[in-house]
Amino acid sequence: MKEAVFDRIARFYDYEQEGFAKDIPFYVEYAKNCGGEVLELACGTGRVLIPIAREGVNITGLDISKEMLDIARKKIEKLDKNTKGDIEIIQGDMRKLELKRRFSMIYIAFRSFQCLLTKNDQGACLECVNRHLEDNGIFILDLFAPRHDILAQVKRSLNLDKFYDKENHLYINRRCEDEYDLANQILKENRFYEWTDKHGKFRREIWSFELSYLFRYEAELLLEKHGFKIENIFGDFDKSPYDYYSGEQIFVVRKD
Ligand SMILES: C[S@@+](CC[C@H](N)C(=O)[O-])C[C@H]1O[C@@H](n2cnc3c(N)ncnc32)[C@H](O)[C@@H]1O
Repeated sequence: MKEAVFDRIARFYDYEQEGFAKDIPFYVEYAKNCGGEVLELACGTGRVLIPIAREGVNITGLDISKEMLDIARKKIEKLDKNTKGDIEIIQGDMRKLELKRRFSMIYIAFRSFQCLLTKNDQGACLECVNRHLEDNGIFILDLFAPRHDILAQVKRSLNLDKFYDKENHLYINRRCEDEYDLANQILKENRFYEWTDKHGKFRREIWSFELSYLFRYEAELLLEKHGFKIENIFGDFDKSPYDYYSGEQIFVVRKD
């Protein structure tokens, strides 16, 4: 399989996301209540998947990036035997899923669905989700909530929080340059990781990726078109309702 977009920064991923965990109790609660097996698409390094497995839920994680999954596997290896036994990890593409079994709950966390840039790819993924869900099964999709004032800037530069690379014992500064392709509804980001190595030399790694963005009714229509009925749209993981400024759009839907 050719290099996946996240392969290049997999080693930074858990350090970068260390401060972000507010979605985990939300997914854990739904997973515990769904009454059956769970599938996470685009599970990455297991940030959400492992806490769900720790609650005794049988869970399968799929991701396209070998490097992200290698990190997940290393973390899973350290878990107790029972928890480990509840987890299956598969490398694959969420647009071409063929698992020959169905799940009570499927979720795509942390805006990973937005890695799919076209309506065809998004539709292919939702078809796969629908085929792999049990009747009345639950599907949860988290997208960022686009804002017209930010999009209207077209280009913007942001300094992001630095993080500590525990493996190499150094701080890594982050900044990004974003550009919005307004016609195609795509955010193109160049993310800069910059640090001084132990020999005092300046180092930089540039990671470029693209994310699609979807507005609320567009996402609703897409979900309905692919056989889901909308149960809730939350604006945050505390289940507050979606509003324009909420930052998140969390769709909780059922197979129709
Ligand atoms: C932002 S990370 C999220 C990882 C994890 N879900 C989390 O919440 O921390 C996005 C993930 O989506 C994965 N991904 C992107 N496109 C994919 C595809 N077509 N099929 C499966 N995984 C994909 C990437 O490899 C990456 O691990």
